[in-house]
Parts: sequence; structure tokens; C-alpha cells
Amino acid sequence: MEDSEVKRKSYEKLVAEIGRCTRCPLHLSRRNPVPGEGPLDADVMLIGEAPGRVEDETGRPFVGPAGRLLTALLESIGLKRDRVYITNVVKCRPPNNRDPSDEELRACTGYLLRQIGLVKPKTVVLLGRVAGRHVYGLAGLKWSSIREARGKIVTVSIGDVRVRLVATFHPAAALYNPTLRRELEEDFKGAIREAVLGEKGDKKKTLMDFM
Ligand code: URA
Repeated sequence: MEDSEVKRKSYEKLVAEIGRCTRCPLHLSRRNPVPGEGPLDADVMLIGEAPGRVEDETGRPFVGPAGRLLTALLESIGLKRDRVYITNVVKCRPPNNRDPSDEELRACTGYLLRQIGLVKPKTVVLLGRVAGRHVYGLAGLKWSSIREARGKIVTVSIGDVRVRLVATFHPAAALYNPTLRRELEEDFKGAIREAVLGEKGDKKKTLMDFM
């Protein structure tokens, strides 16, 4: 079997496991689990908090109002949404969109680590305080606040995957707050773009680069 086929099979197994997961109480109230979506060889992975209402209805990440803003932010730096892998730290909707509990975060951590291990992104963008704190913890970094962490590129290992990590505000928080929205746009056009482009700088040059 080709490597990409092995990866596809492992991914399908992971999605199926998430689909029948009962590791935390969120399975009792979810309509659909939301594993994530995007190419399995994506260079960029975006990690949000947890599915909201529209995501719970459709089984897809970031398809509600926050998702529309996210798509526009990606496009503002020349990234097509279908070229990035998008997921959340928690795969099932917490009732009334409350913050996920520590138990819920712990129950889902293995799934996120397997996603990162399969996709092996070069850049990981953390959307908001909940994803920021949780993934900083997985990377062994100290977390103080989203305001402190936002817009900083740090190179870390998550499992055995070396990534550039950048945190920013959650698009939902910026929907009705013009100041946050401006700062979110700045992070995309600044640190996030730089982290994503940095990858190109890492790639081995070929003859084509000199023609
Ligand atoms: N908010 C998130 O954190 N994730 C989604 O998928 C949708 C809204």
C-alpha cells in the first residue's frame, strides 16, 4: 500500500472512532461529532475550541458565522480554505456553547494528537484562549493569556511533529468586537502569514528557484 493510502486508512479509522466516541458526557447531547476536515497533507492546521450549533448540525468545523470570518481571514493572506486542515480541540458541541471542561478536553486529546501525527502540519494556528491554553500545554509551553501569546511564533514539538505554533483570538469573539477584529486581522496579515510563508523558506531549493 502507498504511504498516502495507509494514511487515508488510519484517518478513516480515526474519524470512525470519533463518530462512535462515548469518552465524555458530550456524546449524550451532540447531534453530530465534528472530527475536522481538510487535506491530509496540509501544511497548515487550524485548531478551534469546539463545534457550535451549525457545526453540530452539519458535522463540519467552522461553517457558522465564525467560520465565514475565518474563511475571509484565510483568503486575506492568500490561503484557500480547502488547502488547510481545520479541527477543534473538542469534537462534540458543549451544551449552549459553554467552555469545554478539563475532562472533555482530556477525553479528546488523543484524537487531536493523532490528527497532528497524521497530517504533520508545518504551521499550527490556535484560535482562541481554550485551544491556545490546551495546545500550549501539549507542547510543554507555559500559558498565561491569549493576549500575551497572540501573534508570537514559537517552534515546538507536539508528539514527534515539529511545528510553528501561532495563537490568535477566536473569530467568534471578533464578530461583534471591532477592536478584536482589527487585532485578529493584524495577526493573520502579520505573524500567521509569516509562519505560513516561513515554510516555503524551509523547503530545499531546486533548479527552478534559480530560473
Ligand atoms: N467555534 C469553534 O471553536 N469551532 C467551530 O468549529 C465553530 C465555532
